[in-house]
Amino acid sequence: MEKLMIRGGIPLRGTVQISGAKNSAVALLPAAILAESTVTLDNLPHLSDVAVYSDILQELGGTVTWNGDTIVIDPSAMKSIPMPNGKVKLLRASYYLMGAMLGRFGEATIGLPGGCNFEPRPIDQHIKGFEALGAQVTNDHGSVRIVAKELRGAKIYLDVVSVGATINIMLAASRAKGSTIIENAAKEPEIIDVATLLNAMGAKIKGAGTETIRIEGVDSLHGCRHSIIPDRIQAGTYMIAAAATRGDILIDNVIPKHMEAMTAKLQEMGVHVYEMDESIRIVGQPHYEAIDVKALVYPGFATDLQSPMTSLLTQAQGVSILSDYVYSSRFKHVPELTRMGASIRVEGRSAIVEGGPLTAAKVRAADLRAGAALVVAALTIPDGVTEITGVEYIDRGYDNLVDNLRMLGADVWREQE
Ligand code: EPZ
Repeated sequence: MEKLMIRGGIPLRGTVQISGAKNSAVALLPAAILAESTVTLDNLPHLSDVAVYSDILQELGGTVTWNGDTIVIDPSAMKSIPMPNGKVKLLRASYYLMGAMLGRFGEATIGLPGGCNFEPRPIDQHIKGFEALGAQVTNDHGSVRIVAKELRGAKIYLDVVSVGATINIMLAASRAKGSTIIENAAKEPEIIDVATLLNAMGAKIKGAGTETIRIEGVDSLHGCRHSIIPDRIQAGTYMIAAAATRGDILIDNVIPKHMEAMTAKLQEMGVHVYEMDESIRIVGQPHYEAIDVKALVYPGFATDLQSPMTSLLTQAQGVSILSDYVYSSRFKHVPELTRMGASIRVEGRSAIVEGGPLTAAKVRAADLRAGAALVVAALTIPDGVTEITGVEYIDRGYDNLVDNLRMLGADVWREQE
């Protein structure tokens, strides 16, 4: 296994190109199963989750060819093959195979998902949607077995605003007979991205990005070409790193509207933020105010950025309170930051962060965004080298992280653990 070595204290300067969104890519790849002809996806990030999905699509009988950031998928020869174990265990988003295979084949047998286990991540709302569409869902020795003689449109109210359930139901409903309405739907940009792909494939979806999505089922879907939206979580992480190191970074290939909550909170702290059409410039400042942050569903502050934001808040003068209203205990980064000298107290779904200097230490990434938090923290420490193990988690969400940070002037390298 590898570990990341970081000698911090260097203000990051320069330009970083943001890649395609991981949380779009892991939905768009299985969505291609619904098409009866070739789907081309551009601006694909080079991440382990994407590579796993590419393998899964080939195991299902699809042909997949890569050309740089572009992937060409021919799903015409795909079969409904059970995927009880193996690669589906490697990522949480394998659950999208359920909606896609149900929509294409009328059945799916998928192992319960793996991925970052910062807390239990149920899929009851996904199953509620599939059953509403007329499918029978059973637990088959740790796999979910879903069968539908015929998918019929339905009105589905999500008890919990869920990105995954919203997308999964959209995938299956795109091929159901009649209309489906998803109420209390999630509004994340990735949902709009999936709806855009499906509509380009011939689906009839309206209202993606609002709390009510309407889907008119169609008999078949065809191939198309689609470019993935930029990764707003990756962009937010670099914004935080620029602020934390008091640097000056231009973050290119972003949609500033997707970063509104992050931009607002950074400005509240005293960070200088300049928005252009497709880029954002962050200029760090010597003094930051402590602030309160609430992680909420979109367009609120993203829960995926609450961990790296915790590291930035250690650089503010005073006490900040960061609360996560999406996940109740997404704080595995806190014990590791404490080892780096941070003064953070977790109370329920809140982390109370007292600003103060950090020190280099040997720490472990417990999940993807917790790993990002440790990288940000290490970048602020001028003396000594911080060692971060669990790099495989970080590689799941950050394309070319070491190269990008080195290009920005950071002294960071990988070593064998
Ligand atoms: C997506 O996960 C993202 N992953 C997560 O990013 C992100 O943290 C999350 O949305 C929230 O924004 C992908 O897109 C692959 P949810 P998802 O369903 O869809 C509860 C990262 O770091 N819930 O929106 O699984 C759930 O427990 C990852 O990139 C149910 O109760 O999240 C949570 O409290 C981590 N029942 C809340 O809803 C369900 O059936 C939101 O979860 C589904 C969810």
